[in-house]
Amino acid sequence: MKKILTLAAAIAALATTTSAQDVQLVIHPDQAQNVIPKEIYGQFAEHLGRCIYGGIWVGKDSDIPNIEGYRKDVFEALKELEVPVMRWPGGCFADEYHWMDGIGPQENRPRMVNTNWGGTVEDNSFGTHEFLNLCEMLGTEPYISGNVGSGSVEEMAKWVEYMNSDTNSTMAELRRKNGREKPWNVKYFGVGNESWGCGGNMHVEYYADLYRRYNTYARNYGSNRLFRIASGANAGDAHWTEVCMKKIGAGNMNGLSVHYYAVRDWGTMNDPITGIPMGKKGSALIYSNQEYYEIVSQALKIEDVVKRHMQVMDKYDPRKRVGLMVDEWGTWFNVEPGTNPGWLYQQSTMRDAVIAAASLNIFHKYTDRIRMANIAQVVNVLQSMVLTNEKNPKDACIVTPTYYVFKMYKKHKEATFIPADLTCENIQVNDKEQVPVMTTTQSIKDNVITVTLTNLDVAKEHTAMVSIDGKQITAAAGEILTTKDVHAYNDFGKGDNVKTAPYEVAKKNLKNGKMTVSVPAHSIVNLTLTTK
Ligand code: AHR
Repeated sequence: MKKILTLAAAIAALATTTSAQDVQLVIHPDQAQNVIPKEIYGQFAEHLGRCIYGGIWVGKDSDIPNIEGYRKDVFEALKELEVPVMRWPGGCFADEYHWMDGIGPQENRPRMVNTNWGGTVEDNSFGTHEFLNLCEMLGTEPYISGNVGSGSVEEMAKWVEYMNSDTNSTMAELRRKNGREKPWNVKYFGVGNESWGCGGNMHVEYYADLYRRYNTYARNYGSNRLFRIASGANAGDAHWTEVCMKKIGAGNMNGLSVHYYAVRDWGTMNDPITGIPMGKKGSALIYSNQEYYEIVSQALKIEDVVKRHMQVMDKYDPRKRVGLMVDEWGTWFNVEPGTNPGWLYQQSTMRDAVIAAASLNIFHKYTDRIRMANIAQVVNVLQSMVLTNEKNPKDACIVTPTYYVFKMYKKHKEATFIPADLTCENIQVNDKEQVPVMTTTQSIKDNVITVTLTNLDVAKEHTAMVSIDGKQITAAAGEILTTKDVHAYNDFGKGDNVKTAPYEVAKKNLKNGKMTVSVPAHSIVNLTLTTK
């Protein structure tokens, strides 16, 4: 039975320290079934603002330290993260991108206006080779988004051939001439992006037919098999999913995407120069407790969104052949003051970290259908992993609190998800919405159980009593991501304010095979358990 704690009561409890065990978590290893695919921890890199230029790519001649043109500190941070998959070149940009502009000698590459994102002039110096070589160097699987909105079938077909053919065809020879002998064997391929919006403003019936046509000519080369991803719904639009499942059919696609952002209020005002909605999304750094809960509540709604789509997919594809690909998700706030509104640059606090953990906890539960998720975006855009300094680009990059969450969740990568029963209080956000004080996730790999507890309560520590069916917990240790002030963030030249620290469950907190774990307000505790 869930109790309700009002927001006022939660705030009043600010000074309260460890409560009695007010959260119960019972873990059921006997019910473990699905392996958590590593692709759940995927990233997204778009030609948007300073994600590519100034973020990932500075060019070989830059005086900023770089490896073959890739910004060295950013490269190293991503290498350490072990990014499993990265989506590129967009986003909205993908449906205006003409890949042939981004190959061959840099000085010959045409310039285009990035009309979606601030009207910036794109010089195409980062193209197919630069992206796919980066993925290779990082050990990351590339995920290419093809252009359906403004590109031709022929253009898409040739791109696939250029990347994947090992023959002596003109496209394969052109790739060789441009310095790459062997094909990259790209696997993940998206046929369009947000085709209901920036990707062509299509009706779903029209898109479904276009998908079938474009997809036909995106050929498999050699033994490589494309994993074909259809452009999916905006948030909870189940009709889009219904028509795609019916008209495209499970035999013609491997994945269907969905995009969901945690936004308080998209707003109606547009930026006078770029036309981009300014919105009332709120500041990434300055927020009240009420605003904190509102955005957390928005983020948690992703569970209802994926459930809606999965229900429709189950109807047409009970064998779950088609994966639901959450290939854009994360928080979206107003841009940092003084930055280009079209560049979507936002800072990231402990609030973002809590939201990232709670979202991953949700994805873990549905990996029988969810095969991939790509947080938006990897560097300098929206809920990023890494930030570089626009004013002083030579400053070392910083990693965000969300970066630490992704690092912590490496423990769950390709482990088997274990269901559990969680009992805890709820906090009332407004007339209609509540958020639980805690969300958790559990997994097992090589007989080792990992439990992650995320305290969503902005003001109060909560203590969980954790037990495992048929097992005794004898020791537990791991790490914690916590800060005194939820608004804490990492800033240039100031060292990491927000970073993980070791966490060990004291012997006195282990009794009769159960453990009690205190999780401070707005914190994440990640524990590896020793059991018998
Ligand atoms: O991630 C920013 C933008 O959000 C993407 O370009 C688009 O697909 C979505 O609307």
